[in-house]
Amino acid sequence: MSEHDRWASRMGLVLAMAGNAVGLGNFLRFPRLAAQYGGGAFLIPYLIALVLLGIPLMWVEWTVGRYGGQFGNRSAPGIFARLWQSNWSKYLGSLGIALPLLFTVFYTYIESWTLAYACFSCTGSYMEKDPERARREIPVAIEGVTPEDLQAMWAVQTLIAQSDANQDGQLSRAEWTDPNRPFEQLDTDADGVLTASEVRAGAALEKVDVAGSFLLSRSAWTGTGEAFELLDVNADGQLDESEVQRVMKPLAGAHTNRFLQDYQGVSEPEQRTYFHSLGWAIGFWVVTVLINTWVISRGISGGIERLAKVAMPLLFVFAFILAIRVLTLGTPDPNYPDHSVWVGLNYIWEPNFAALTDFDVWLAAAGQIFFTLSIGTGAILCYASYIRPQDDCILTGLTTSATNEFAEVVLGATIAIPIAVATFGLANTRVIAGQGSFDLAFVAMPIIFEQMPAGRLFGALWFALLFFAGVTSSVALCQPLVAFLQEAFLISRRRAALCCGAAMIVLGLPMVLWLKAGYLDQYDFWVGTFGLVIFSLVEVLLFAWVFGGENMWQEIRRNADIQVPRVFYYVIRYVVPLVLIWLLAGWCCQNFHAVILLKGAKPETVPYIWLSRATILAVIVATAVLVAVGRRWKRSLSA
Ligand code: TRP
Repeated sequence: MSEHDRWASRMGLVLAMAGNAVGLGNFLRFPRLAAQYGGGAFLIPYLIALVLLGIPLMWVEWTVGRYGGQFGNRSAPGIFARLWQSNWSKYLGSLGIALPLLFTVFYTYIESWTLAYACFSCTGSYMEKDPERARREIPVAIEGVTPEDLQAMWAVQTLIAQSDANQDGQLSRAEWTDPNRPFEQLDTDADGVLTASEVRAGAALEKVDVAGSFLLSRSAWTGTGEAFELLDVNADGQLDESEVQRVMKPLAGAHTNRFLQDYQGVSEPEQRTYFHSLGWAIGFWVVTVLINTWVISRGISGGIERLAKVAMPLLFVFAFILAIRVLTLGTPDPNYPDHSVWVGLNYIWEPNFAALTDFDVWLAAAGQIFFTLSIGTGAILCYASYIRPQDDCILTGLTTSATNEFAEVVLGATIAIPIAVATFGLANTRVIAGQGSFDLAFVAMPIIFEQMPAGRLFGALWFALLFFAGVTSSVALCQPLVAFLQEAFLISRRRAALCCGAAMIVLGLPMVLWLKAGYLDQYDFWVGTFGLVIFSLVEVLLFAWVFGGENMWQEIRRNADIQVPRVFYYVIRYVVPLVLIWLLAGWCCQNFHAVILLKGAKPETVPYIWLSRATILAVIVATAVLVAVGRRWKRSLSA
């Protein structure tokens, strides 16, 4: 390898590594998870996972990368072969090429939306021209009644309306038909009839058909009267299904939601108003892929490092401007004193220990640590292979992790959640967040910008910030494949970059076309969640067990600028692998029905989902084949 392919400066390395880690995960995924899993309740498992998994694995990836790099190996197959002299090691390493490639395929598509939305913010394309209509789209604020409550009430209401033959609003013993739930047991006051609250207390609600066109009367309502009035938009004294839906899916009818769906091509073709084809989405995506290809074709110091030196400072400047704007928002509507940025910030920062017993919160928190620190794809491994053998890994690794955490828990959390709470209220914000990573950023935030003075500017800053965060990550995801092609087939960097760009287009096209069928979600789960843990497990077992515990410890501490406490020896050797296995088992149990067996998936999406899985598998097999046939590569190994 020529001296050319090295980080030019420590500052450049830190910025590039921070750019690798700081990404869409910090500004889209983290706020969503924090809002969904209870704010301060989420942060505790998150911080524990950071110390027990994140930091140790960060050091492992850096050190393994540096170790391989001193022999001139820049990609996982070669690096793993240095740790374990076996024919198998390089095939295990081929995962370190396939995973980042697959990752970048879906990541760059999302990144391209942020580029598009930065432009749409400048032009005001998604903004509603009629301010009165825009205001009406802000969801009603129902504090104290959660959507789950409402759904349960609705279900009971439906059940009663279906079975109540004499229409007296109660169910007598004769009207009660469910053999699984004995009448006597439900009738807690033993008056011979079941009221709504008795049915509700004992109901197996999921069995009830919620979609019936029944009305929720005031007598069945258990929330505050004020909330009832707010919900009852047509003031007929009853809540009909569309009124209930407004709380259960607060932004479903908003124009920004239709805008996003039209852009992504997931709405019904005849109902589109903003975009009638996928032309814009494809255009912005191709541009995004070209930008990535161009940057990596310029090499480590000439492309990636230069990009990071420009994009990272800008990203932080934009984030600070937005954070200050958010904090000065205070309580925008004096009629709703609860709708303030302080309530939002308090929600995130107030610790809540009750959630620590909830297994799902732990899984989500650990998954986010992997995602946000970029651990477990082979991308850090690859970046770290370009540092000099005499360079420190520990302090620099810690610095980049700290930068990432600052961008995540301070900046990421200060922007999206408080601003959404100030505009929509906490209950609504949690519902919106629960609907996925994109609703908060691409549906809720545009509504907020539209209402705000100089909203176009702030909108452009927000989406440009996301784009900078995304592009410095996606180039990192491309680099392992590029490094591997250069290394195994001795082709030029430019040609390797072109191959990578071509692969992104070929693999990405079905994702663009079949977004609605859940094609992307499969990548998100198998690559972005499951794959990261598998690869980390392989890596830590190879390093701490096959390469050897003491060798590992010596390598980690070599040339370190700070002392690593000995306890991390045990953490890396024992705690990390065990926790990883526990995570894998947990995910399998949690997702077995919905994700693995596809229970509840719409039948028409199933073929696409299998196609998506088959593609993932094919890419993994194809990289293994490339590893096997790269003949020159064997020479480089024995060199
Ligand atoms: N850390 C990135 C983010 O927060 C996502 C990511 C995961 C990543 N693994 C990666 C980026 C590997 C680059 C390389 O958005």
